[in-house]
Amino acid sequence: STPILPTDQPPLMHHAVEEAVRLLQSGEVVALPTETVYGLAADALNPQAVAKIFEAKERPTFDPLIVHLPDKKLLDTVAEVPEDVKKVVTRLIERFWPGPLTLLLPKKPCVPDLVTAGLPTVAVRVSNNPVFKRVAQALNKPIAAPSANRFGSISPTSANAVLAELDGRIPLILDGGACLHGLESTIIKVEPGTPKALITVLRPGPITIEDLKLYAKVQRVTKTLLDEASEAPGQLASHYAPRTPLRLLSKPSDFTPEEGRRYALMSYRGEEKDGYVDLADWEQMMILSPGNGKLPEAAVRFFYVLRELDKLGVDEIIAEPMLEHGMGAAMMDKLRRASVRPSR
Ligand code: TXA
Ligand code: MG
Repeated sequence: STPILPTDQPPLMHHAVEEAVRLLQSGEVVALPTETVYGLAADALNPQAVAKIFEAKERPTFDPLIVHLPDKKLLDTVAEVPEDVKKVVTRLIERFWPGPLTLLLPKKPCVPDLVTAGLPTVAVRVSNNPVFKRVAQALNKPIAAPSANRFGSISPTSANAVLAELDGRIPLILDGGACLHGLESTIIKVEPGTPKALITVLRPGPITIEDLKLYAKVQRVTKTLLDEASEAPGQLASHYAPRTPLRLLSKPSDFTPEEGRRYALMSYRGEEKDGYVDLADWEQMMILSPGNGKLPEAAVRFFYVLRELDKLGVDEIIAEPMLEHGMGAAMMDKLRRASVRPSR
């Protein structure tokens, strides 16, 4: 089985980082914490190492990987920033890197085709997680790292969740505790425009549409999922899927239990609205934001709660809708995808 190395004491951190770097240098994969979700890392410039990511995740090779840089100064080693968007891209990087923002940019030839699935663009970000940063800086190379789950499954936000997904398939997991944001990075592409550049959000995440609006005109991809698939190939209709069928309610009052079926409820704040939260209906109810009833707290717990409810073996997980602003946009996007049954 796969060992987990702790990082919560300086000598342990030192040892864990050393082990991870040693494995990455020898062309192996290692699961690392980031501020969004745990990633499955490999040397991005070594195609044999990158191939092991696809193998461990059972990820189809048409789905490209994000490249993480040790420092934002290294952007032009893997990507070309087009002249006509340089100004806005520079401002975005100044403001949001290191952090949970991924940019799609034309790739440099050194990036293997396997990383970008043959696309002319590369997805790039710089992580702000202290463990990830130490590993990346010691390795001093770009790191390819998708979320450390099996393809199509729920993203891991703890070392134990990585273990549940990939135990025995990878040589090491570094435990950096719970992820700060709990949802994957926001993925954008930037195009020139007058008077303002245009940002297209391909995957909503912790850097919200509201945040990005300060820098450019912003649009969300709302096209059919097939169209979208060509833009962010991993953003398939069925994604983030628990094994238990999931139903996203359009409004809380839309739920009527059927006799003999067992349900679990994913509730945003656990509030009683119009008699909606009738405990008798639920085998279990888990509240996303029990502490402060706010979206960032819900985001941190989102994948954890989904994973826990999936373990119950109920007939259906019922999810309450959330407001589509801030991090609510990303959670609603994920709930919609999770409610599409995989065709496998
Ligand atoms: O927060 C995150 O972004 C995490 C952490 C580990 O960094 N990573 C992550 O990677 O979520 P992954 O592979 O699970 O999701 C990356 C998404 C996929 O949907 C992929 O299709 C898309 O980014 N993507 C990657 N490169 C692309 C490219 N060149 N063009 C379009 N989409 C791309
Ligand atoms: Mg993923």
